[in-house]
Amino acid sequence: MKRSTLLLLIIGLIGWSCQQEQNDDFDIDKQLDYCVSQAKKTLQQIPDDTASIPRNILDGSDQWTFVKYRDWTSGFWPGTLWYLYEYSGDENLKTSADWYTQYLQPLTVEPASDHDLGFQIFCSAGNGYRITGNPQYKEMILRASDTLATLYNPVVGTIHSWPGKTEFPHNTIIDNMINLEMLSWASKNGGAPDHMQIAINHADKTFENHFQDDYSAYHVIIYDTITGDKIKGITHQGYADETMWARGQAWAIYGFTMMYRETRKPEYLDLANNAAQVYLDRLPEDLIPYWDFDVPGIPDVPRDASAAAIVASALLELSQYVADDANLSEKYMDNATGMLVELSENYQSGESNSAFLQHATGHHPQGSEIDASINYADYYYVEALLRLKRLKQGEPLINTVLAQK
Ligand code: GLY
Repeated sequence: MKRSTLLLLIIGLIGWSCQQEQNDDFDIDKQLDYCVSQAKKTLQQIPDDTASIPRNILDGSDQWTFVKYRDWTSGFWPGTLWYLYEYSGDENLKTSADWYTQYLQPLTVEPASDHDLGFQIFCSAGNGYRITGNPQYKEMILRASDTLATLYNPVVGTIHSWPGKTEFPHNTIIDNMINLEMLSWASKNGGAPDHMQIAINHADKTFENHFQDDYSAYHVIIYDTITGDKIKGITHQGYADETMWARGQAWAIYGFTMMYRETRKPEYLDLANNAAQVYLDRLPEDLIPYWDFDVPGIPDVPRDASAAAIVASALLELSQYVADDANLSEKYMDNATGMLVELSENYQSGESNSAFLQHATGHHPQGSEIDASINYADYYYVEALLRLKRLKQGEPLINTVLAQK
């Protein structure tokens, strides 16, 4: 072996063992305590009418921008409060979680304006029902699933994600995978049985059409509503149609992992593994992606901490489904833990604002939420921390429990 090769090998091994040490020393409760304390600060900053959901804190500000219940991110704040109540047992957090969950109730019965109902209702009422068993929340989930199902087009075989947003009659975005969890749960818990089939058809069609040869996901697929065929793949929030938008890839990994859990269809597991592989292969060394993997100007472009949090959470679950391949399972655990260590050490807001994380990117092409704190980055960060805590304690994962309830 050449001396230079040997040197590189030694440097690599030292780096790996330092990372292992950091992962082993990672204090999960300390990060969760920090999140509780930040969430309490946020609760104090909410305007008096309280019908305001903290969505983001933009770069250069320390103040939340608030949104109303129809915003696509409205479920993340109550969902975060439920997770933190579950962790801390703090009754004040429970009261607020309940308030913000109930506040979303109209969404479940108003006509569906887009596919985001799963994000909105399952993160809020889904977690609320899992933790409290309150039948009102169950009713919200079942009604929201009925509403979401109205966007399903049987000719295409997918849910129409964004009615009216593109010039074509039917679009489906990769993010939509996440909304399938609510449909699956509803069909197993007293809702319409066909919601499971809708979720499977949607995932199958996404499996067929949403991925490029290297398993990077298109953001949006446009479908022909007469033939049901794919017309083309485009982007909305990525840099370009064929580039790998970081959060889109995160939704793909998370979504197919979750649909494997719900159905045990092996092709979903394969896809989750392949989508994770290209994502992990192309990450920068600190494991936090740039907002798009192919955007010109790397490394001088904004990161997306939200994608890192979503992927960390997904990989923790995925690691449980590849247990017969110990190396792969360990690789997912190590990477997920490494992502959480990095987010905790270098991406927390600390004193600069009351969100948990900073340096997330919402919609770069539109110039919105660039290098910001965003509520869904916080939600998936807490979810991933709780998942890691459970796995370290030898307990089953949270959403696995939810799926079986
Ligand atoms: N689902 C919208 C986004 O990820 O920005």
